[in-house]
Amino acid sequence: MRTITLHKDDVFNGYLVLVNRTNPIKGPLFKNISTLVPFSIVDEKILLEKRASAFLIHLIEKINSKEKIVPVSGYRSKEEQETIFEESLLENGRDFTERYVAFPNCSEHQTGLAIDLAENQPVIDFIRPSFPYSGIFAEFRELAADYGFIERYEKNKEELTGISHEPWHFRYVGFPHANRIQKLGFCLEEYIQFLRDFPIGGTPYTFIEKELEFNVFHVRANEEWTTIEIPEDCLYQISGNNVDGFIVTIWSRPL
Ligand code: DAL
Ligand code: ZN
Repeated sequence: MRTITLHKDDVFNGYLVLVNRTNPIKGPLFKNISTLVPFSIVDEKILLEKRASAFLIHLIEKINSKEKIVPVSGYRSKEEQETIFEESLLENGRDFTERYVAFPNCSEHQTGLAIDLAENQPVIDFIRPSFPYSGIFAEFRELAADYGFIERYEKNKEELTGISHEPWHFRYVGFPHANRIQKLGFCLEEYIQFLRDFPIGGTPYTFIEKELEFNVFHVRANEEWTTIEIPEDCLYQISGNNVDGFIVTIWSRPL
């Protein structure tokens, strides 16, 4: 067995962090921020976490949609989120703003793992860009999970996410979790809650994705340090959930 030691601040890092109004960004520093890269050579100001950016570029190339799908907003600092929130309050009022703009420190955009995408049009609405469900946009959605992205704010999940339907906002959670979230029909809030039913030491959440078997566990974080035992000869991923602990994903050998 390999022993992995995690600090309490690691709860705030990783591809499965849940960020919303009840789970704001609490960590002293998001590790993802250190790996931000420009998402697009067209607009170098749009930044995204490195791996999220690489997969999104591959996806856009795969469906040959570079001219039709354009990035609108990627990584935002807390100050940028504050400005967007305050300007929207003045322009659109509180009800609209709270439905479409997260409170500062409660926005996934601050993690570098979220991006707003738009149909390429002469005028693009910054807060609510158009990203339809047909044509090339449907093709994008069909492949998004294979590239690690989920549509984060779906229509029937508004009570759970606290945000209105946003067809343009995509969140990178990575493979295989994006595929599972989509297949289960969950929003991220539901998925993180669901995984709590599989505490380490008990029966894992087991599934097969792309002919690989995965075992997933939830590990509650201790006050300072948490140690996790991982079998020697396997691939694994660990992510904080930004709530109470870690999600451990163990990859089996190909079936
Ligand atoms: N539009 C999303 C909810 C944000 O501001 O993060
Ligand atoms: Zn967004």
